[in-house]
Amino acid sequence: MDLGLAGKTALVTAASKGLGRAIATELAREGARVVISSRDEATLARTAEEIGGETGAEVGYRAADLTKGSDIEALVAHAVDRFGGIDILVNNTGGPPTGFFADLDDEAWDLAFRQIILSLVRCVRGVLPSMRERGGGRIVNVASSSVKQPIDNLLLSNTFRAGLNGLAKSLSLELAPDGILVNTLGPGRILTGRTESVDAGQAEAQGVSVGEVREQFAARIPLGRYGTPEEFARVAAFLASPANGYVTGQAILVDGGMVRAL
Ligand SMILES: NC(=O)c1ccc[n+]([C@@H]2O[C@H](COP(=O)([O-])OP(=O)(O)OC[C@H]3O[C@@H](n4cnc5c(N)ncnc54)[C@H](OP(=O)(O)O)[C@@H]3O)[C@@H](O)[C@H]2O)c1
Repeated sequence: MDLGLAGKTALVTAASKGLGRAIATELAREGARVVISSRDEATLARTAEEIGGETGAEVGYRAADLTKGSDIEALVAHAVDRFGGIDILVNNTGGPPTGFFADLDDEAWDLAFRQIILSLVRCVRGVLPSMRERGGGRIVNVASSSVKQPIDNLLLSNTFRAGLNGLAKSLSLELAPDGILVNTLGPGRILTGRTESVDAGQAEAQGVSVGEVREQFAARIPLGRYGTPEEFARVAAFLASPANGYVTGQAILVDGGMVRAL
């Protein structure tokens, strides 16, 4: 299937590593021109060069902290300027810290709101004029399986990913007349740097090896293993592409069947 991504322009946030990087790579491989962003400029520049080298696509970058409105404004302006407009926005963010209710102070709640909800609001607000001018677009949000089922010890994710899901659904309704399709992806357990550090933390807390923690998690996944960033990215690339003409307002899990929800 031709996804129709050749010549399209995409902005992918939080993309120097992990899922964001995999999505940017997949979009680039399919012929899109991509601007990636994250905080650490050196890592970001290296990633942009590597994706460009691997795919032959034009890959730009700009450092931005997604918790800062002025950084997001400058990022969107840079992407529009670089490619003349934006067809695709992939809203990815860093993950909020783990913690139960008693572990979280006002500062943690405030930061997680800015990280997960306000960053999406600001990115969408930034790209809308360009998408409207171009006659449509695709917005893909990266959230978590917590959009369908809360995860123990991840209260911030459980709260704000659910909020993101509600916001995304509302946006899909408001933006459908503009030809802008909005969907949210919920990764289950995809092997990235974040999963590695979460597993290492669990291993330390339980006094077992990282391998044992992985086996415990994998045993709860019907497909019996963690997913790869590439498997995740292929779903994102479809949703972000013109080949997706009729899926909008959905929260789709990429979790190997882990969440037991209809
Ligand atoms: N991997 C999974 O299985 C899984 C499962 C559920 C949910 N998720 C969620 O999916 C998202 C991506 O996860 P991942 O596994 O790919 O994480 P990752 O490997 O840790 O990568 C996170 C990326 O986000 C960037 N980032 C972090 N904070 C940022 C900020 N304030 N502003 C801009 N960029 C920022 C990082 O670069 P800098 O640090 O340089 O900014 C990096 O590029 C996270 O929200 C995570 O919670 C992942």
